[in-house]
Amino acid sequence: MKPIRTAVFPVAGLGTRFLPATKVVPKEMLPIVDKPLIQYAVDEAIEAGIEHMVFVTGRGKDIIEDHFDIAYELQDTMKARGKDLSILHDTRLKPGKSSFTRQQEPLGLGHAIWCARDIVGDDPFAILLPDEFMHGSPGCMKQMVDAYEKLGGNLVCALEIPMEKTSSYGVIDPGKRDGVITEVKGLVEKPAPGTAPSNLILPGRYILQPEVMKILETQEAGAGGEIQLTDAMAQMIGRQAFHGVTFEGRRFDCGSKAGYLEANLALALDREDMRDRVRDMAVSLLNE
Ligand code: UTP
Repeated sequence: MKPIRTAVFPVAGLGTRFLPATKVVPKEMLPIVDKPLIQYAVDEAIEAGIEHMVFVTGRGKDIIEDHFDIAYELQDTMKARGKDLSILHDTRLKPGKSSFTRQQEPLGLGHAIWCARDIVGDDPFAILLPDEFMHGSPGCMKQMVDAYEKLGGNLVCALEIPMEKTSSYGVIDPGKRDGVITEVKGLVEKPAPGTAPSNLILPGRYILQPEVMKILETQEAGAGGEIQLTDAMAQMIGRQAFHGVTFEGRRFDCGSKAGYLEANLALALDREDMRDRVRDMAVSLLNE
């Protein structure tokens, strides 16, 4: 079984739900407390043993590349002022271990992944959607890689949500369940209300075999007029092993404003240096 060495981060979306904040600043650079969403996703991949990070970007997303580079002026100035530089250590990716390619038009998640096909090559790979913030220890991708080492094939993260919210997501048609592993019998993107095969959705973490790129090559637009990754994955079921992994941790939908605020509050309350102040602040706001 080939190990998972490459992760793809699709970051070419327009982020319209966060306008005007995302007119110039990419959604993936919005911080949860003091670290941008994209860096949490990269840290999650590194923790899972992944070595090569592939970013599928678009116009206006260049600062993501800068974020993972050395910032000489900033470092020199901080050094001269006697400031601690360790906070910047994790922002530098290993030389030669990152790639940036552009999705010229935002034609959908499936199309964004297909744009990484030449870099991914013939190996299985991971996909992490940075606006889905998965908070856990070990992280979500590490839990998935552990499952992959036992099962091989294709894996998606599976998350239970209230049935009435399923029409906004890719949804699993589940087979047998064994602990955190669920057999995937089918997948449907954004099912019409009342038609979802379950309340198990795809919250944006995948381990896929490279054959999905061949399918994406000819994949037609699906839900919302976009080329959907879910539709391409659905065609792999039956040909290759396909399982869902239930993540043991907390998921925050940071593509939505409420989910983003919730993640900021939850992480601030987790931090020793902020907890008391933020709790007092929240209580006082609620009592206003
Ligand atoms: P979203 O559905 O959240 O879309 O994409 P979006 O454009 O980022 O945000 P809104 O809905 O306009 O506010 C889910 C993920 O897929 C990527 C996004 O960057 C995000 O990580 N994506 C989506 C692409 O890379 N390309 C696309 O064409 C669409």
